[in-house]
Amino acid sequence: MSILVTGGAGFIGSNFVLEWMATHDEPLVNLDKLTYAGNRDNLISVQDDPRYRFVRGDIGDRSLLVRLLREHQPRAVVHFAAESHVDRSIIAPDAFMQTNVMGTFGLLEAVQEYWEGMNRDLRDGFRFLHVSTDEVFGSLKENDPEFDEYSPYRPNSPYAASKAASDHLVRAYHHTYGLPTVTSNCSNNYGPYQFPEKLIPLVIHRARSGQLIPVYGDGLQIRDWLHVSDHCAALRRMLAVGEPGAVYAVGGSAQRTNVQVVEALCALLGEARPGVDYFSLVRTVKDRPGHDRRYAVNASRTMDLLGWAPQETFASGLRRTMQWYLDNNEWVSRVTTGAYREWMDRQYPASLV
Ligand code: NAD
Ligand code: TYD
Repeated sequence: MSILVTGGAGFIGSNFVLEWMATHDEPLVNLDKLTYAGNRDNLISVQDDPRYRFVRGDIGDRSLLVRLLREHQPRAVVHFAAESHVDRSIIAPDAFMQTNVMGTFGLLEAVQEYWEGMNRDLRDGFRFLHVSTDEVFGSLKENDPEFDEYSPYRPNSPYAASKAASDHLVRAYHHTYGLPTVTSNCSNNYGPYQFPEKLIPLVIHRARSGQLIPVYGDGLQIRDWLHVSDHCAALRRMLAVGEPGAVYAVGGSAQRTNVQVVEALCALLGEARPGVDYFSLVRTVKDRPGHDRRYAVNASRTMDLLGWAPQETFASGLRRTMQWYLDNNEWVSRVTTGAYREWMDRQYPASLV
């Protein structure tokens, strides 16, 4: 048998694919549309492996899905494919509704039909693993308890609303049709291969090249950071032991304000590339509309049920991530061309770009 991954050429997906190929014999099919966020370069090291197959395509293409499911007979689908950047969802939400909502719906339809046709033994073991976010739960106040599996849905951005809709669809396909789904609601990830539109790689990339570093509003918004390899480990555990219909809250127990994150990166860069005062590059810019103040996840139930715990601390993970970006400048240069520059021009004030 095999597993089918969607969006495996993006940030978390490529980390998952690379780790899967390094630790499992089972074949893996990667279906990815290769939007601006997808990059086959991430997967060069596995592209010639006979267990790996890359298919360029859209999760909204139902006949392609039916063909791939019939041909590869996966025992699980791991669904990463999405539009994932909050700022883009504010400026151009259409693609978010198309991929995150309608795309997930089409995928569920195709997988449901495939699953119904499997023989009984295989049907019981099948899993549809939906990779979602803590952002569906909205924003926490300073002293609110962290999100967990029972938190009410209160999405605030078009991105979060589209992911919330996809979570609801996944839930409904389990509840109504019995599809053995598992959903992960994870906090902010960071690590190798993250597109430099997101905070951590954006700060590393800009600071290293002597460009100003944009901090939205007062910079005191809080995120709970988890290294991508720890998220991928949790997802593998969900595939292995996740019960049908289960939902897991995943986080790194590493709440930091954005200013703390930026300053930690400036300090790390100062150690690795001394001679520049990176802190002096930081600039406050206009806040993101509807900016969620705080995300934080209580992952204790997930840790107990999955026998999983993050291996990286925020300090060790950030150091490793900084080193990866310094060692892989060529990757950064390739992804920060044409379309990336257009995005930066559009999103940030001229004084910064
Ligand atoms: P990403 O933007 O880096 O990658 C998304 C991938 O999906 C890209 O390879 C892209 O080409 C592909 N894709 C987009 N639309 C597609 C379509 N219609 N058909 C097929 N492929 C398509 O995203 P990421 O940060 O790797 O996030 C992956 C998943 O994890 C998303 O569902 C996201 O909501 C979720 N998530 C992300 C984080 C985070 O911090 N990055 C945290 C929690 C959950
Ligand atoms: P981001 O990486 O876009 O993730 P998310 O919005 O999904 O949490 O942003 C992380 C935090 O960093 C968020 O509070 C917004 C903030 N931020 C900035 O201050 N400046 C920036 O240039 C970016 C991209 C984000």
